[in-house]
Amino acid sequence: MTDTMTERRKILVTNALPYANAALHLGHILEYTQTDIFVRFQRLRGHECHYMSADDAHGTAIMLRAEERGISPEQHIAEMKELHEADFRDFLISVDNYHSTHSDENKVLSELIYTRLRDNGHIASRNITQAFDPEKQLFLADRYIKGSCPKCKAEDQYGDNCEACGATYSPSELINPKSMISGATPIEKESEHFFFKLPEFETFLKEWTRSGTLQPEVANKLSEWLDTGLQEWDISRDAPYFGFEIPGEPGKYFYVWLDAPIGYMASFKNYLSKKGGVDVDAVFNEFWGKDSTAELYHFIGKDIVNFHALFWPSMLSSAQFRTPTKVCVHGFLTVDGKKMSKSRGTFINARTYLEHLNPEYLRYYFAAKLSGSVDDLDLNLEDFVQRVNSDLVGKVVNIASRTAKFIQKAGGNLSANIDDDALWQQFVDGSAVIADYYENREYGKAMREIMALADAANEYIAAKAPWSLAKEEGNEQQVLDICTQGINMFRALLTYLKPVLPELTEKAEAFLGETLSWEQAPSFRTGDAINKFKPLLTRIEKDKVDAMVEANKQALAAAQPQKQGQQEEAKTADSELAKDPIADEISFDDFAKVDLRIALIKDAQHVEGADKLLQLTLDLGGETRNVFSGIKSAYKPEDLVGKLTVMVANLAPRKMKFGMSEGMVLAAGPGKKEIYLLEPHEGAKPGQRVM
Ligand code: MSP
Ligand code: ZN
Repeated sequence: MTDTMTERRKILVTNALPYANAALHLGHILEYTQTDIFVRFQRLRGHECHYMSADDAHGTAIMLRAEERGISPEQHIAEMKELHEADFRDFLISVDNYHSTHSDENKVLSELIYTRLRDNGHIASRNITQAFDPEKQLFLADRYIKGSCPKCKAEDQYGDNCEACGATYSPSELINPKSMISGATPIEKESEHFFFKLPEFETFLKEWTRSGTLQPEVANKLSEWLDTGLQEWDISRDAPYFGFEIPGEPGKYFYVWLDAPIGYMASFKNYLSKKGGVDVDAVFNEFWGKDSTAELYHFIGKDIVNFHALFWPSMLSSAQFRTPTKVCVHGFLTVDGKKMSKSRGTFINARTYLEHLNPEYLRYYFAAKLSGSVDDLDLNLEDFVQRVNSDLVGKVVNIASRTAKFIQKAGGNLSANIDDDALWQQFVDGSAVIADYYENREYGKAMREIMALADAANEYIAAKAPWSLAKEEGNEQQVLDICTQGINMFRALLTYLKPVLPELTEKAEAFLGETLSWEQAPSFRTGDAINKFKPLLTRIEKDKVDAMVEANKQALAAAQPQKQGQQEEAKTADSELAKDPIADEISFDDFAKVDLRIALIKDAQHVEGADKLLQLTLDLGGETRNVFSGIKSAYKPEDLVGKLTVMVANLAPRKMKFGMSEGMVLAAGPGKKEIYLLEPHEGAKPGQRVM
């Protein structure tokens, strides 16, 4: 067993930086929970442990997403960052700094590293030919091209492989290829690209990947690539691109994956600058300098191993920085045994989970199933409910709720005696074993060890049955001794669980009147007072899980275009759709031209001489609009004032008999009494865009 306790270690930990183009899902949360448990464990053991993260903000996908939304990439990534940070916070992820790869620090560091690579002769340049969208004036990655499969002729296949027959090909072989961005037929175009000469690092990588930095199965996988020969890595992209321009190469940008891992360093630099009172360069160098003795851990998923275990260490070593101590790779999350899928509704958004369930339930479940391997991990929803209820509520919390009240009855002070020394010794011995499991990311094994101790504690309490003893006079000391033992066992268990369950531990600490530390766990507490026990955790109700799954399905359905077949089904004889069929398809760009906004109806008046119109004064949270709307047959003015609705805000103003109408409000229904004005859910604010 390694003794990881002896000296105060300096540790820097990162997780993979989520892309700033989508909300986080439970797969992300798996990774961030795994990282957070490691970090909290190290801190609990008294080590200096910094946890850095950031949004990965560059690339074509993010640029296009912002364009679709009609906002600048800067605004888009700022909004995504806020959402991601809220998810991190609410899942109790104790990240010390959450930065962005689109930052000054990252620009400076990326330029520095690139320049060093170039000056060391590790950058090559040459012309390559690529698919190009002549309308959008943009080079197209394979995933932005669709067409018919050259082999089986299946339509609507991506640029590099066919989902129907499994063929792989290059986009130029597609029949009738189309740019997914503009619909135009791509042409071939040549341009200069810059490459990182990875093959020159072969010897270094063969050594580095086998030096204990990777799990053996990961190292094995990489050696297959190392043996078949490495390729030069294309690190540049042509304008337009959202990223950093390459120094000295106007119109050429760093490929997002070049500056993304440098974001780890940038986040740390930003953290030190904000912290104040430290010599930023000196501390930065202590952690990232070539001769650093600090430890550096990257937690990542198995899909991005080549970036972290081939390109990244090579870049770092060429640029005179230290390389990671360990790259910790995890597998993928599945839900009820299946790959997370949007169409099946098993793609669970982090926020949807939080709206229904306590984050600590999931943190515990993930911990109970995580190991140091790259195996996939399944969230089985039945097992989730059962496991959390039986382990946390039934075993751990139960120990305190069964014993605390007798200590209160005896005056609130613990006994001076240890009732069962041998049993207590098991809890003392658990400390080193459990610590070793945490250190090696064998959280599942740690949880089993902890639950075995909880079982022993419950068996002891059940056998001693203090509640029966308490019924007879003269047993007071014995009851107090038993319950004191119970509270001490609870205290040790909560200390061991503290990295996984920070909030539950905080409540337990209030009850015990102390801050739990790893060092103190094996010392038996006697004599002093504890506080009144309050319920610490409620059982998971299966309905809440069902409601979460349902809400998630609905959110996904709303976000996804309906498939043709589903539309047909809805078209029964006298359905609304039969009466008024859905209009011709439009592109997203067509839709995005319509600027819909939340509007507050500030005033509504009858219009003299008009038998259908009401005059509405709409507040967009800054400016007001005058709108004439034909809803008089269905609404009284006084019923509308103060309500929110949705308006088309960029409709050309129209001169009417009664004055200018500056937009229109949205309503459904055939007319007369049946007109239904749209009203947003509670919380929407005037001026907000409707998308
Ligand atoms: N932006 C890159 C990482 C750059 S790191 C310098 C990226 N972003 S991501 O948002 O796609 O993924 C972030 C992390 O989440 C990755 O480590 C990825 O493996 C992980 N996961 C994404 N889906 C996952 C599951 N279904 N299950 C577990 N982890 C998964 O990649
Ligand atoms: Zn095919």
